Amino acid sequence: MVNSKILLGITGSIAAYKSVEIGRRLIDEGYSVQVVMTKSACNFITPLTLESVTGKPVLTDLFSDPFSHINLSKESSLLLIAPATANTINKLRCGIADDLLSNLWLTHEGPTLIAPAMNHRMYRHFSVQKSIKELQKLGVNFVGPVSGSLACGEEGEGRMADVSTIVEAAIAALTQKDLKGQHILVTAGPTLEAIDPVRFISNRSSGKMGYAIAKAALRRGAKVTLISGPTSQMPLEGVYFISVEKASEMETAVLKHLPKATAVIMAAAVADFAPAIINQSKITKNNISSITLKKTTDILKKTGKIKNKRILIGFAAETGKNIENAKAKLKEKNLDLIVLNDVTQKGAGFNVDTNIVTIIDRKGKVADYPLMKKIEVANVILDGLLEVRKRGNL
Ligand code: CTP
Repeated sequence: MVNSKILLGITGSIAAYKSVEIGRRLIDEGYSVQVVMTKSACNFITPLTLESVTGKPVLTDLFSDPFSHINLSKESSLLLIAPATANTINKLRCGIADDLLSNLWLTHEGPTLIAPAMNHRMYRHFSVQKSIKELQKLGVNFVGPVSGSLACGEEGEGRMADVSTIVEAAIAALTQKDLKGQHILVTAGPTLEAIDPVRFISNRSSGKMGYAIAKAALRRGAKVTLISGPTSQMPLEGVYFISVEKASEMETAVLKHLPKATAVIMAAAVADFAPAIINQSKITKNNISSITLKKTTDILKKTGKIKNKRILIGFAAETGKNIENAKAKLKEKNLDLIVLNDVTQKGAGFNVDTNIVTIIDRKGKVADYPLMKKIEVANVILDGLLEVRKRGNL
């Protein structure tokens, strides 16, 4: 991973306990995390806790190593301060360097991300507001704070942003914005076709692949519209989200949002058939011998007919590595790329965090990929999208 080292500064706020989870999550995402704590932070959590999580000594003292305040920032791509107190934010603005963290801020040349956490009156204080504005003008990124109940028992704006929001902002700050200017429409999840008010036909799709694509595209600077069937995936901040249930609703949503899209990636497992009649009342068991089905519209195929210059990427969920089937689907649906996944392979397909894919382009070029995390697969697909764009959308 490029830009993989993060300097995590922790200052003296009760929100410091959440820094443990921030460190853990960044490591899970593949980053190396070096923690620096102020003396006040050590009143709330111990360096040992962070050492156990990151597997690296936590630095708290400016003088334990004469050059750590210079070398650490040289090695790091991002300075993330979470939580950042009013005192630290004001110090950063003035350039006061009286501990290791504030010295590092002066030697660090890469992006900085600050997650403030404090009492709401402290947050509104003119000195803090002035510091935040001036730091923002210098290009420092802020995430939060948010409103809510504070540790002191009061309510207001001052709570540190959610751990997920901070982790996502840190990753976004480190990700090259090579999709800036693109608006990507992504579909995800299963669709659900009602039989009666109680029962439905659906499939095993978890939505994980589509959500990973939306997340990766957002990190890379694209605008993202996500049209999703029912899933248990966490909502993605920054994505324009449309929730649908059945295939016909997904079709309407895709056609409505297509005009503003520069690319469409259809990762949804759309039901191929739906009950011909939806019973308005529950069908009793003595009253049913069969269900008549009708085909749903192939949304991807329909989009392929009106795509113009848009890049169109579809999936081919197969039971077996059926390259010829995938090639036929690519041609029939007028796609630029098709992502073939054999859902019978271990670690591929539905409800897992990994996938094994083969990507085929219009010229018939076949690229096989090994077992990867879905977020990595998402990035490979987006690399493919950029490649098609560079070639002039052939
Ligand atoms: N798709 C779609 N509308 C449908 C069915 C599928 O837009 N009614 C899209 C899927 O989102 C996927 C692609 O078509 O990107 C291929 O889906 P898949 O289920 O693999 O193939 P089908 O074309 O449905 O053919 P079959 O199920 O017979 O293999």
